[in-house]
Amino acid sequence: MTINPNITIFGGTGDLTFRKLLPALYTMHVAGKLPENSRILIIGRRDYDSAAYRETARNWVEKFTRLPFRPADFQAFAGKIDYYRMDFSDHEAYRGLNRYYTGNRIGSHIFYFAVAPRFFSVITEGLKLVDGAKNGKVIIEKPFGEDLAAAKTLNGELEDYFGPEQIYRIDHYLGKEMVRNIQAIRFTNPIFTDIWNSGHIESVQISALEDMGVETRGGYYDASGALKDMVQNHLFQILSIMAMEQPESFTPKGLHDAQLGVFRDLRSAGSETIGDTLVLGQYEGYRKEPLVAPDSSTETFAGLRLFIDNERWRGTPFYIRTGKKTGTRQIELSVIFRRPYPEVEPNVLIIKIQPTEGVYLQFNIKRPGDTDDIIPAKMDFCQNCNLVHQLNTPEAYERLLTACIQGERSWFSQWDQIEYGWNFIGRLKELYRHAGLPVYPYRPGERGPAQAEELLSRHGHSWFEEG
Ligand code: BG6
Repeated sequence: MTINPNITIFGGTGDLTFRKLLPALYTMHVAGKLPENSRILIIGRRDYDSAAYRETARNWVEKFTRLPFRPADFQAFAGKIDYYRMDFSDHEAYRGLNRYYTGNRIGSHIFYFAVAPRFFSVITEGLKLVDGAKNGKVIIEKPFGEDLAAAKTLNGELEDYFGPEQIYRIDHYLGKEMVRNIQAIRFTNPIFTDIWNSGHIESVQISALEDMGVETRGGYYDASGALKDMVQNHLFQILSIMAMEQPESFTPKGLHDAQLGVFRDLRSAGSETIGDTLVLGQYEGYRKEPLVAPDSSTETFAGLRLFIDNERWRGTPFYIRTGKKTGTRQIELSVIFRRPYPEVEPNVLIIKIQPTEGVYLQFNIKRPGDTDDIIPAKMDFCQNCNLVHQLNTPEAYERLLTACIQGERSWFSQWDQIEYGWNFIGRLKELYRHAGLPVYPYRPGERGPAQAEELLSRHGHSWFEEG
């Protein structure tokens, strides 16, 4: 494994850098996870010098760090940061960047493309003028292009120059504590491992509800929508880890192959089944959000009913829902087991991803006292309720940045998974549009449109709510 200590962030004055990357790097520094000699070079067009940038960075880190903010720690961290003013779409400017790196003896790079995908090519071309850049690692964020064709082109360009093993595609859900826990819970507990199939599981529910609207991101979001923003990446990752066969080995390749198996077996909808597969919604007031088209038909909610056609899962529906302004913040994976008798409640396992990190297990017991009534017992394990744990749980970006520095690729998205995602979601959207199905309105605070509930209720199911 090659350790690359020096990180250059293109788009260093954007939201992602301020809210996520700098606070994550700060924590890594405090935790001793940033190599001693690391340099962090921030590239942006805005008129900062290093001192002014560090001052701005200080405010953001203070606001967003999950550690207590300590000025002395920040000062030591800030000493690693430099600002380099440059228009990264100007090809010739990269000669100056090259001189900067050489003059300051900075090599062994990680390039973080915290910019819109339309800039990926121009940065890659520019980096061809930087000595040694070819041997660096590149981190990119979703969306990887605007559609499958664009994503393919971008991917080709990046892989041709840097090599496929050097591209790290961030899906920050893969860095979340409880997403990484899914496989541990599945494969180390025979009480689950042995019954993880359609014979015992009635339905699987992946729910990612957010109380926020699109806020300042209307421009990006309106061109994307819930399916591309959340489903085809984050929620498909959860789906594939939940449903994969046991990997031959828990190596990047083993994991990746097992996840890919799930995508291959996903049943694709047809025009006659699309109405029973997908429901889209839009919250009232969305069209008035900044940078959103006044006649936008972009979905801010998506509900899906999917099937995986293989021996393990035949007959078990996988329900997915995600939406903005749904009145709550709750991201979780629920596994609803089949009941032995119709009159008892099902066993339910919930892996809580966010904001609570934990596990909920529901099973049946006899009601205490002189009765034979059966009632559900509810065990709730909260992993992050106690503050000490919360401080110790690495936030997703810290974990992924650390992994990239060390060359550990397991928890990054692979290109073929992304390609499956684009294809699958692209086709569903197209069928939906073709069938003339509407994007149903819902009121802020509701869990999406009523039609999304019907996707389940018409099959005798409902979203499991802990009560
Ligand atoms: C991002 C999406 O990838 O994930 C956002 O673009 C969404 O729209 C966010 O809000 C959710 O992530 P988290 O970590 O806050 O659950």
